[in-house]
Amino acid sequence: MESNSRRGFMGKAFGAVAAVGAVGSLVAMKSSWDPLPSVKAAGFTTLDMSTYEENELITEKWRGKPIFVLKKTAAMVASQTDAQKERDVVVDGMHFMLAIGLCTHLGCIPAYKGEKDGFLCACHGGQFDWAGAVTKVPPPRGFDIPPFKIDGNKLVLGEAGPEYTKMKETGITL
Ligand code: FES
Repeated sequence: MESNSRRGFMGKAFGAVAAVGAVGSLVAMKSSWDPLPSVKAAGFTTLDMSTYEENELITEKWRGKPIFVLKKTAAMVASQTDAQKERDVVVDGMHFMLAIGLCTHLGCIPAYKGEKDGFLCACHGGQFDWAGAVTKVPPPRGFDIPPFKIDGNKLVLGEAGPEYTKMKETGITL
């Protein structure tokens, strides 16, 4: 059931945006009586990376944003270009594309069309390959990568581990 709800996120994206506004109001109200500000400031999401199927895009949520998680097949890993390898997130020997699922042009949510065609943004025709690199403008860059920290076979979103820090420093992500 959990994976079904995760898969349904894209289809419910607009409802989710409205819900985020309502939740934001509740959070604002709650902040006036919450005695432990450190609790609500956490903002981390932990993913069990052993639960993903190869070449099946799953859309998670982190801080209200869609997060694309795509476990690469052995063939994908073997055929990666240097540019694709730089964006690779390797957790316990498994290779993933991890990205904030928003087009870097004007923020639409691109659709995954499979290994051959990658991601297509319907708003203005931008395209990204399955590793998240841009292949057709107008998007100015590949998908942004959320802060992550690898912890065994888990991935903690919202915490910057050394692999993420290196991607930032080398300009792989903003
Ligand atoms: S928002 Fe994606 S191409 Fe414009």
